[in-house]
Amino acid sequence: MKHLLLIGLLPALVSLSASAADNALSAGKKLVDTHCISCHASSYGGDGSGIYTREYRKVRSFNGLKAQVTNCNTMLNLKWFDDEEQQVVQYLNHTYYHF
Ligand code: HEC
Repeated sequence: MKHLLLIGLLPALVSLSASAADNALSAGKKLVDTHCISCHASSYGGDGSGIYTREYRKVRSFNGLKAQVTNCNTMLNLKWFDDEEQQVVQYLNHTYYHF
């Protein structure tokens, strides 16, 4: 009986962690939309995402992406927490960089 209960719980747990990842991505997107896009868009046009996909982009690795997000956070004095930086890194990597 216990086993059946556990097996029954498994899909719920799996979908829980999938939606946690989705939440991180949408939280990251919200942070980027709010704080980052307008400036990128004013120099690169469109929705500003051209800065991440241009041929000579600066960010070349996952660690480089983390460093860049930390730099922007510091430069803009946003005072993001670690988990907010992580969400932004995850969102940018998932959507543009694919490291
Ligand atoms: C005041 C303008 C401005 C704001 C605000 C800004 N950026 Fe940037 N960002 C730039 C410029 C300019 C560059 C290109 C730097 C270069 O080419 O040397 C850049 C480059 C980047 C890159 C590297 C792109 C590549 O070449 O791979 C990332 C990632 C990035 N920004 C993330 C962010 C994030 C995250 C935020 C919000 C916290 C942010 N930026 C806010 C101006 C801005």
